[in-house]
Amino acid sequence: MKILAIESSCDETSASVVNTVDGGIAVDSNITATSLALHATTGGIIPENAAREQAKYILPTIIKSLTYSETNEKSEIIWSKAKTILENDINAIAVTVGPGLIGSLLVGVETAKTLAYAFGKPIIPVNHLLAHVYANYINRKINDIKFPYIGLIVSGGHTDLLIFYDHKNYKWLGGTRDDAAGEALDKTGRLLDLSYPAGPEIEKRASLVQATDIRFKSPLFNEKTFDFSFSGLKAEVARFVKKQKAIDTNTKSEICYAIQKAIVDVLVKKTISAANENNAKMVLVGGGVSANQTFKKRLGDEALQYGISILFPELKYATDNAAMVGAYALLNGTTSSWQEVKANPELYFL
Ligand code: KG4
Ligand code: ZN
Repeated sequence: MKILAIESSCDETSASVVNTVDGGIAVDSNITATSLALHATTGGIIPENAAREQAKYILPTIIKSLTYSETNEKSEIIWSKAKTILENDINAIAVTVGPGLIGSLLVGVETAKTLAYAFGKPIIPVNHLLAHVYANYINRKINDIKFPYIGLIVSGGHTDLLIFYDHKNYKWLGGTRDDAAGEALDKTGRLLDLSYPAGPEIEKRASLVQATDIRFKSPLFNEKTFDFSFSGLKAEVARFVKKQKAIDTNTKSEICYAIQKAIVDVLVKKTISAANENNAKMVLVGGGVSANQTFKKRLGDEALQYGISILFPELKYATDNAAMVGAYALLNGTTSSWQEVKANPELYFL
């Protein structure tokens, strides 16, 4: 089974060809164009700009993904070649239908529908959040991942904990009541004049600090819930910053350390509790914040004490990409006809 997968829910335009090989999921190609640099100039994403960029990149990205070969990484944009591959080699087209920005989603969904119609291929609608969890199946043996496992999605838009009993059955355990973990990093970073997205720079600055007296609260840390809340952290950091006469480089780094600690502490605590309370021996983490090495280490160290294995996706599959959409479609996808598929920006969990 070979799938062409398309992802366009936010500011990445991505297309990928994935395949099941030898009990695992192999990625033949994963081509991603990003409009991140444009959003850095506005300090955040303006949805209209993101959608326009999606429209610009979608076809070249799809054509590149179909014609990509290891020996010709700079695959040229040749439609006739892509068309032959689509006709002969691709069994189905998978596409992210939500959640996300409506303008961005529509570009990927309508392109996928057009191709499915024109080439007579089935289409597989995919939930972007579940795809983040399934990024962990890429380049691993499928049977090495044991149910039940916990899925933790930590991205710029989402913070969610789920339990998966099998591919078809999962339950949402809790999620953020306001800002997502990545959003909290980006918003507090903005208070410190860091460039967007601030997650990577907060991590870099935090790594320069051994210890500090600066402390921010880890919201809902002691509450018996799998919900999160990060908007109070932004308010607390704003108050702290306002009180300072001037912020030198060292203080800025200490603030970054304290922000990262407040977020990581609560993510680690609730993820481990979710695994223990549900007898899950594995946790699959997904989303851009999973690139954070301190988080990775802290979660790994804590999990070791309870015999829980933590899986993180390879870095290139942690942030938005189409290969994860293809991975989900291969393992769990249900085919539809193009008439039934619709972009749904509010799509969440069943
Ligand atoms: O999954 P993602 O690429 O996009 C979606 O939101 O769907 O996640 C982006 C988020 C941003 O908030 C960014 O600040 C955060 O991931 N991020 C990080 C790191 N790299 C990206 N956060 C902490 N440490 C990092 N190294
Ligand atoms: Zn995402």
